[in-house]
Amino acid sequence: MAAPARRLVRSEPQEDARQAFARDVLAGLMADRKWIPAKYFYDAEGSRLFEKITELPEYYPTRTETRILEDNGAAIVHHFPAGAALIEFGSGSSIKIRIVLAAADKLAVYVPVDISADFLAAAAASLQKDFPRLLVLPVAADFTRPFSLPLSAQKRPRVGFFPGSTIGNFEPREAEQFLCHAARMLGRDATLIVGVDLVKDTQILHAAYNDASGVTARFNLNLLARINRELGADFDLDQFEHRAVFDRELSRIEMHLVSRKRQSVAIDGTTIEFEMGETIHTENSCKYTLKNFSSLARRAGWMPLAHWTDAEEYFSVHALGLSR
Ligand code: SAH
Ligand code: AVI
Repeated sequence: MAAPARRLVRSEPQEDARQAFARDVLAGLMADRKWIPAKYFYDAEGSRLFEKITELPEYYPTRTETRILEDNGAAIVHHFPAGAALIEFGSGSSIKIRIVLAAADKLAVYVPVDISADFLAAAAASLQKDFPRLLVLPVAADFTRPFSLPLSAQKRPRVGFFPGSTIGNFEPREAEQFLCHAARMLGRDATLIVGVDLVKDTQILHAAYNDASGVTARFNLNLLARINRELGADFDLDQFEHRAVFDRELSRIEMHLVSRKRQSVAIDGTTIEFEMGETIHTENSCKYTLKNFSSLARRAGWMPLAHWTDAEEYFSVHALGLSR
């Protein structure tokens, strides 16, 4: 018999989440260089649009990482202790864990952690149905902040899983801080499996973030639609356009929303002015070399144990252990 779907644990009440959203959006838009934290892309619509991005022919990261996980499943799960709890940071649709589960029959508990609560609840219920013997315990939380793990995970050895190159959405210094925070949360004997996108030809990177069908543009603009929906703002979506460029010096794709004209927008009782051509910086997507990422992991106290790539070295998956 299938195990019943478990209730979603929220680390923060919804009202507090709304206040934090309003505070962060206004602080970002009142800064000299306007910006909004990328984690706010992911309401239910943003999560759906991200899933569409993963299916685009130009967006190589998802299919490349999937292939790496499929080809190296046994070697990857070799790093898991028996009876472990696996904690996935930013689990989205929880598709990649299915590949890991095909290779790891010794996982007892799966804790998907995501900021997009409704999307998370649906993905967790579907996984629980398909894997009735696995204990699936979803936690809706911002993974950059402290949150409690379910008791069943606290009682077991823990493995962290951070695929998708979501780590690239941090600046390197923030990525290091996150890895320190993950080490504290996962505990002394932990292993962390992390997916990292690699530096490559600018044209390939450019196409991946400027797809011909405009899905990435819709994903970017949904941020303004979300601010309108949840904070009662009056952004005119036709007056902003998507821009994604690769900065080779900083080794990152930067996504921006560019104001097509001089305009003002009302948000939560505050008026924000935009010059024509002024941008809101909405996301960084950092690209690493294998060596740079290993050094970053070491600085955060993790020991690189192994890594796997595709033949073209577009993407990498790393196994890290805690150096004691
Ligand atoms: N792991 C999946 C999804 C990656 S997309 C994959 O590899 O395909 C990034 C995911 O991280 C989204 O589901 C988003 O909602 C989540 N996310 C982004 N920032 C977050 C944060 N600060 N806290 C928790 N989840 C976050
Ligand atoms: C989730 N993250 C790793 C994606 C990326 O590639 O940086 C988000 C994304 N932004 C635009 N396209 C995809």
